[in-house]
Amino acid sequence: MYKLFFNLVFRRMDPERAHYLAFRWIRLAARVPVLRTFVAAVLAPRAKELRTEALGLRMHGPFGLAAGFDKNAVAVDGMAMLGFDHVEIGTVTGEPQPGNPKKRLFRLVPDRALINRMGFNNEGSAAVAERLATRHPVFKPVVGVNIGKTKVVPEEEAAADYVKSTERLARHADYLVVNVSSPNTPGLRNLQAVEHLRPLLTAVREAADRSVPERRVPLLVKIAPDLADADIDAVADLAVELGLDGIIATNTTIARDGLGLRSDAALVAETGGLSGAPVKERSLAVLRRLYARVGDDLTLVGVGGIENADDAWQRILAGATLVQGYSAFIYEGPFWMRAMHRGLAARLNDSPYATLADAVGADVRKQASA
Ligand SMILES: Cc1cc2nc3c(=O)[nH]c(=O)nc-3n(C[C@H](O)[C@H](O)[C@H](O)COP(=O)(O)O)c2cc1C
Repeated sequence: MYKLFFNLVFRRMDPERAHYLAFRWIRLAARVPVLRTFVAAVLAPRAKELRTEALGLRMHGPFGLAAGFDKNAVAVDGMAMLGFDHVEIGTVTGEPQPGNPKKRLFRLVPDRALINRMGFNNEGSAAVAERLATRHPVFKPVVGVNIGKTKVVPEEEAAADYVKSTERLARHADYLVVNVSSPNTPGLRNLQAVEHLRPLLTAVREAADRSVPERRVPLLVKIAPDLADADIDAVADLAVELGLDGIIATNTTIARDGLGLRSDAALVAETGGLSGAPVKERSLAVLRRLYARVGDDLTLVGVGGIENADDAWQRILAGATLVQGYSAFIYEGPFWMRAMHRGLAARLNDSPYATLADAVGADVRKQASA
């Protein structure tokens, strides 16, 4: 049904316009009490066996909406209504910015992929903090806040920009993510190098503790799938050394591997980050490597090309406590989370594991002991 609607309506529209139209419907539905109760009852049934505890937080399940969909925290309740167990808002930058010129979002439908060069279009940390402070949540999903660097801020002053966002946003965040991996802000990914990352993460940690002294806000870092293996290990070691809470693997890729010859060559040539099915294999490999390195010392979040319950289950076995998605939601539509919850509950019930937590990293542990 949604596929037909997608092909007849959304596919004919500019992808960014389609995004905002769908977004408006979600927000509207979430505002009408009868409607939101009905939608949530149909789309977000809770499977008790999927209850998850991560980052010191209790969640209905392990599924989250990846950053970038709700950059300004305008539809947190709406996304929870559709069944997402956690919603990561952002990326929010210190200052408001318009992002890159349009067109900047492209659908590679035959490859079930997207290319985006949005460039952190967002209202800035002050406006988003104000919105989070004054919202009246109904569904109360776990809310992650993903922060990044304002484009015009030079690389040497990046830490101050992240600190500004942290001071404004940390108190509204169930967890905080330092995004150093989007390919659409020049120089941002250089911050993944340990010599830059160490002072940055230290400054953000201190700012979070200073601005929210009453609770320790969990801090994670989000990395690119394009890092070399040695750099993945270096980030993992640094995260453990600094007492970070977790790593999100991965963001979009600048590589174009994994694409079939099916998508229009002109679209494939667009600059930006590639997401969806083609990034699946690499995101999984990065996750496995991280889990082999850090085991249960960090909470790992698997994201990149997760399309169905089998993909989610595979990420959990590879070490993910939480999983997220963006591109598959565009292609699968509002029933996606319902299918994911049902499918994952079935995988768990068919497995030798009593709980999801028991299954986390099981494949990697098995391989290590073989
Ligand atoms: C249009 C678009 C915008 C995105 N914006 C952000 C962003 O602002 N911050 C971020 O950390 N990731 C962003 N991402 C990356 C996603 O959060 C996710 O890491 C990536 O798309 C891989 O997951 P997927 O294959 O399920 O889409 C964006 C992705 C897309 C498609």
